[in-house]
Amino acid sequence: SLAMDSSTGSRGPAGFATQANALFRKNLCFQKRNLKTNACITVYPILVCVLLVLMQRPIDNRIDPSKYSCGCACVDTAADGSCRRTECGAQHSTPDQVAYCQILSPPRWPALIQVPRPQSRAVRTASQPSNGLPEPTCRVTRSCPAAFLVTGSNRSLTESLSGELFPALSSPLNFTDYLDTLSNIVSGSDTVTLRRQLLEPTFISEDTLYVVQPRRQSNLSQNVSVNAGMIPLRLNVDCIQGLSLWRKSASVINDELFKGYRQRGSGGGKTNEFVAGYDFLNTSKDSLDINIWFNSTYNRKVAYSPIAILRVPRLVNMASNAYIKFLKGSGAKMLLEYVKDMPKVGSKLKVQINSILSTLLFTWIVELIFPVMLTYLVYEKQQKLKIMMKMHGLKDGPYWMINYAYFFGLSAVYMILFVIFGSLIGLRLFTKNDYSIQFVFYLIHINVQIVLAFFASSFFSSVKIATVVGYIYVFGSGLLGGFLLHFFIEDTSFPKGSIVVMQMIPGFSLYRGLYEFSAFSGNENGTGGMKWANLSDPVNGMRTILIIMVIEWAILLPLAFYFDNVSLLDGRLRKRMLVFFKCFRMRAVSFKRYSFGRLGSNVLVEMENPDATLEREVVDHLLLEPNSNYATICDNLKKVYHGMDGNPDKLAVRGLSLAIPKGQCFGILGPNGAGKTSFISMMTGLIPPTSGTAYVHGMDIRTDMDAIYTNMGVCPQHDLLWETLTGKEHLLFYGRLKNLKGVELLKAIDYSLKSVNLFHGGIGDKQVRKYSGGMKRRLSVAISLIGDPKVVFMDEPSTGLDPASRNKLWSVVKEAKKNRAIILTTHSMEEAEIVCDRLGIFVNGGFRCIANPKELKARYGGTYIFTMTTSLEHEQEVAQLVHRLSPSAKRIYHISGTQKFELAKQEVKIANVFHEVESAKCRFNIHAWGLTDTTLEDVFIKVAKGA
Ligand SMILES: *[C@@H]1O[C@H](CO)[C@@H](O)[C@H](O)[C@H]1NC(C)=O
Ligand SMILES: *[C@@H]1O[C@H](CO)[C@@H](O)[C@H](O)[C@H]1NC(C)=O
Repeated sequence: SLAMDSSTGSRGPAGFATQANALFRKNLCFQKRNLKTNACITVYPILVCVLLVLMQRPIDNRIDPSKYSCGCACVDTAADGSCRRTECGAQHSTPDQVAYCQILSPPRWPALIQVPRPQSRAVRTASQPSNGLPEPTCRVTRSCPAAFLVTGSNRSLTESLSGELFPALSSPLNFTDYLDTLSNIVSGSDTVTLRRQLLEPTFISEDTLYVVQPRRQSNLSQNVSVNAGMIPLRLNVDCIQGLSLWRKSASVINDELFKGYRQRGSGGGKTNEFVAGYDFLNTSKDSLDINIWFNSTYNRKVAYSPIAILRVPRLVNMASNAYIKFLKGSGAKMLLEYVKDMPKVGSKLKVQINSILSTLLFTWIVELIFPVMLTYLVYEKQQKLKIMMKMHGLKDGPYWMINYAYFFGLSAVYMILFVIFGSLIGLRLFTKNDYSIQFVFYLIHINVQIVLAFFASSFFSSVKIATVVGYIYVFGSGLLGGFLLHFFIEDTSFPKGSIVVMQMIPGFSLYRGLYEFSAFSGNENGTGGMKWANLSDPVNGMRTILIIMVIEWAILLPLAFYFDNVSLLDGRLRKRMLVFFKCFRMRAVSFKRYSFGRLGSNVLVEMENPDATLEREVVDHLLLEPNSNYATICDNLKKVYHGMDGNPDKLAVRGLSLAIPKGQCFGILGPNGAGKTSFISMMTGLIPPTSGTAYVHGMDIRTDMDAIYTNMGVCPQHDLLWETLTGKEHLLFYGRLKNLKGVELLKAIDYSLKSVNLFHGGIGDKQVRKYSGGMKRRLSVAISLIGDPKVVFMDEPSTGLDPASRNKLWSVVKEAKKNRAIILTTHSMEEAEIVCDRLGIFVNGGFRCIANPKELKARYGGTYIFTMTTSLEHEQEVAQLVHRLSPSAKRIYHISGTQKFELAKQEVKIANVFHEVESAKCRFNIHAWGLTDTTLEDVFIKVAKGA
């Protein structure tokens, strides 16, 4: 009756290209509807780039360029007030600006010592009652001495050395030649040092210069202003006493220094600081031997200059000067004239927001596509769309290829846009490094990421969980990379092997790659950028990364393929793996148990089940003499689930034989858990039978499943449809999977749309989400019927439909069964009775009975129900009447005049019943009476109970 009937025979299974084409076109439609989402995904990197630019702007505005670049001033003013020549340099700069100046010849500065601030200099406290320290009152007058602690193995020698530590002034302070003056005495400052010695902050910020003398001379305090070289200096000179205190040993000094350290409780929470400690060790006439304690934390106060110059040179000079005086008399001197930094180039401060966030941010951006792919894959699995496609013959190969290609395209566009826009806004990571290396790196990475998504998808069955885990992976790997891996990479002592192992996590290898790119492009002044030649640099991790990723890809791809198959079939990977591991152990045990089981049950079935025996004979006969009129033959089909954790094996389907001719609709009734689903799953090739086989159109399900798919249709219990595709597009897709082409395909689609009443009013061109439940169901049926399959499986096709839709659906099924076998499971007796030609009641893994509905009713029903209502006093008469009709009648129900009897059919003639009732009416008053046949429902309950 179908248009393409004639050509059916020649149509083989759809090849790889046909399937790929079908899936490709379907996905194209799907993605076209999904355009907004896709666009959002790919536009994301552009958005980030724009955001970076926008964020950069306020930062640029906030940063005062004059503050963070070398200071300039006009040195030649014209008569009209305009500047003829501006000069930039250290001499025109504030201490903040100097750091950015080009300095060819750095200035010279006197070497100072670091003197504690007046209020924290060491005084006598409760916890430090040690001898020699001044009373705390000196803190009020800010005149506390700068205290030194000294020790040595020869006390007399040490004390004479410490007496010479602070040379006394020989002449009044003369600041015209301050370098010379200050090199002869000890002077210090409590000002915090800078990172470089280009400027001595004490000299330019009107800070106090402490002149350390053997005793305090208040007349030395003065304000001086010196024009030394280019820079005008203003100084606030103060004289303090240098106090050197003898201590017994180095450990005493240690102890005392430690007690002075800022700690709660001691000295009212104040610090008790010493300038330095000297241990002259074994110093003698022949050698100077010293240890010096100095406070290096003092200078670390300033957050933005964590590494500052330490004022140590003068401390050393003090000791050597004292020593030479001790040896040669007070006339001898050892002078430290000045300290001076190295020359440097000029620079400008530019806060690059992206270089602050750089590697971490970019890792996140690149990885963000991962959860998108994962979700997509898990969605098709969760919605069972993948199984549906598989049941219609779609092989894994085309499925993978098309999805891989789609993901690759998506990732590639995403990355290309990111690199292009990143380059446009001038991200150095992109512009500096060789684009060909970047291309190779990103190319490999997106491939690894796609394979990882495939791999991960086989472990999830819920989209929600997959999404959450996907994003946790993205942010977790980024953060761990940024804080842990980064730290390990920079720590040169960290074992390289461990880093390589860590980098096997794709997120980390991505981080490392970006880290290398940014390391190469980070240097503003240098040549910068990674070139191919740089790959051989020993510190460059890029080569390792590339190798790791390629290997990873090659390993993950087949692994993902394998896990995907395993998890699809059973839905439970864990179970499968367990089986795999237990396989060996189980084999020996299960063999025995299961052969017993088979023997026992077979005997039982054969004995009490003549239908199954009969069917078995038919099948045996058909196997010997094949008959093309039979669409499906099951030959002793069996499925055993191996018990887990010590549970016994479960026989889901026990030796099932069944032959269904063309043009028949076979209905399977049965309580839940009877094994119907296992049976259908085996027939549709989702799970392999444990033993036995089935033939569809003469082809074996164990070997020819591909060819069978072309001749098979499936209508699942729940509508497995893509909401955004139209009915027609569904049919096109599944039609192509059935290897229909061109005109044939279009005809088949029109025909099936018409046959399920979806053709008129352009319903076929509407998206499925606008369909009602009944329309979806009819579309599912149409899908199962497209391509003229020889066998169609329908799983509860009318569940959840209103009576009108149900009737429509049934007429579709009735029409469809003309040319094929339909196997239908149902819970609706009405449906079974109307649609099916033969029924099997499936109980406990096998058919309890197989027959057409009427026969079943006759056999298991075999009775009429006779009901009669009279007044109470006539009950006895009614009972007598019934016994006259049927001597073995049973009263099954009785309440206040209403009685129900079960009458054996063979004893009763309906005419007799009427006759008797008519005559009884004359004798007493009958309120109501009735005679009903048994329903299929009664049969079903009886049979199921009997099990
Ligand atoms: C300590 O040094 C003084 C002065 O140099 C020297 O005379 C004396 O012998 C030394 N004492 C010891 C125990 O070495
Ligand atoms: C070193 O200097 C810091 C900063 O002034 C101070 O808090 C700390 O107590 C000093 N340490 C000692 C041992 O004096």
